[in-house]
Formats: sequence, structure tokens, C-alpha cells
Amino acid sequence: MPIQIIPTDAALGAEIRGADLAQPLDDADFAAIERAYNDYGVIFFRDQRITPPQQVAFTRRFGEIEFNIFGERWSVPGSPEIVVVSNAIEEGRPIGVRRAGENWHSDMCYTARPPRGTMLYALEIPDLCGLTLGDTEFASAAAAWDALPDKLRQRIDGRRAVFDFAGRKRAFPPTQTEIDRNPPVTHPIVRSHPFTGRKCLYVMRDDCTGIEGIAAEEAEALVAALADHIVKPAFIYRHQWRQGDLLMWDNCTVQHRAIQDYDLPQRRLMYRTTMGGAVPM
Ligand code: SIN
Repeated sequence: MPIQIIPTDAALGAEIRGADLAQPLDDADFAAIERAYNDYGVIFFRDQRITPPQQVAFTRRFGEIEFNIFGERWSVPGSPEIVVVSNAIEEGRPIGVRRAGENWHSDMCYTARPPRGTMLYALEIPDLCGLTLGDTEFASAAAAWDALPDKLRQRIDGRRAVFDFAGRKRAFPPTQTEIDRNPPVTHPIVRSHPFTGRKCLYVMRDDCTGIEGIAAEEAEALVAALADHIVKPAFIYRHQWRQGDLLMWDNCTVQHRAIQDYDLPQRRLMYRTTMGGAVPM
């Protein structure tokens, strides 16, 4: 079956049909998938049955694997590239990171080279008597930029914000070593996508602790206003997971958050891989 790309009716996102990710993809199919990924910001494949090495191999086609602080604590045995995202407890111990990303964010924006994107493979999805829980929301920071008034665009284009690892509230407090390893960095507030050139906003609450050249109080108000603008309903796609989904998001044009509306005995289990990116421009 040829690859089919079915856009969602939201500002971002497309389903890809006709791909079995357990089989090697030829270059033409991969190119079509990569183009859709760059264009739609979020793509997903339903009904996949893949092994951890197959997920790692597919991730590697988009860039080198990026390791993050969660992987050091919770990775798949034999596949250190995969982080386990889960609320499950086995033998009295959490098997994965429980509350990954419940506030709007872009992954690892506090690093000098934030990842290109992230991939989640859904193994177990929480369900309450047939009601699916544990959705993930995605916001298009590119559509948000397109909708900004010219006056505000001129105020912020070319500015750089400070991104501080220590700013974000996390499920578990980072160690001093982790804080020392991640000193504050600056990135442009308005980024250009490295493959399409599309402009997007790159601002989040907590992670962004200031804007160069703008007084602290005004910078704080601007960060809050822009962060809220990005996550307006018009720019959001909400993914309702099914077991066997493999979904990936672009970390430049897309922000995301996990909806924490479930708890044990409903289990959620995801395998997450992340691919390396470039210095934001
Ligand atoms: C994440 O932010 O990486 C996790 C998203 C999710 O679990 O839905």
C-alpha cells in the first residue's frame, strides 16, 4: 500500500497510513514521512507492533539519539536509548517516569542544541469503562506566530530569551549535578524551522526566565502572554491514544503537554525516544 498522509482537522498533525514500521522503509517512503513530519509538526501511525530495537532504528533515521535525564533513571533493559514513561509500579517500584511533561513545554529547551523531536510508542493506554484517558495535547507555535499582530512581531523578532533548566517545576527535584550540567542558555524567541524555514514562537513559562534587552517585569509579562497565546484552542491538536500508536512531534514548531487524568489501577506505558537537533536559528 502506498504511504497516505491524512491531515487532522486541527492546526497541526497528520495520520500516516500504509507504513509498517516493523519493516525497513525504502528511501522514497521515508522521504514522504519525513516531509509530512516537517510540514505537519505531529505525525502518527496506528496499529504498529515494533520491538525496542526497531523503534531505535526508526528514530535514528531522523537523527542521532538524544539521551536525557529521565533515561538515566528509567530506560528499557537492553535499550538505553528508550525512556520508559509510565505510572505503573512493579515489585513496589515505579517502572518509568510518572509525570513526564504535564505542563506545556518543548523538550530540553534549556540545552544549547534542543532535540529535533520526540517519538512515543503506546504500549498500554489507561481506560475507565471504555473512556480513554491519558491524552496528549500539542500546540502549533508556528500557527501561533502566523496569528500574531505585526506590532508584537516587530517587538519580539530578533530577541533572545534566557532558558534555565532550574526554572521548570519537575515531578522530582533535579540534583545539583544536573543543575550544574545545564547552565542557562539563550535562544531566539522567534525560530525558523531548520528544514522548512517556517517561523514559530519559542517561548514557555518557567523555562524562559528573561528576555535579553527587555526589563525583567516587561519580559515576564511578554513570556506569559506569548506562552498563553501559543496554547489557544485554535492552535491545538489533542491526541487520543490507542495501543500500538507511534506518534512523533517536532520540537521546534510544536509544544506539548500530557493530560494527567488517570491513576492506578489504570496503567499507561509508553516508550519514548528523542532525536538530536541543531542550534536554534
Ligand atoms: C512527554 O512530555 O514527553 C510525555 C508526553 C506524554 O506522556 O503524553
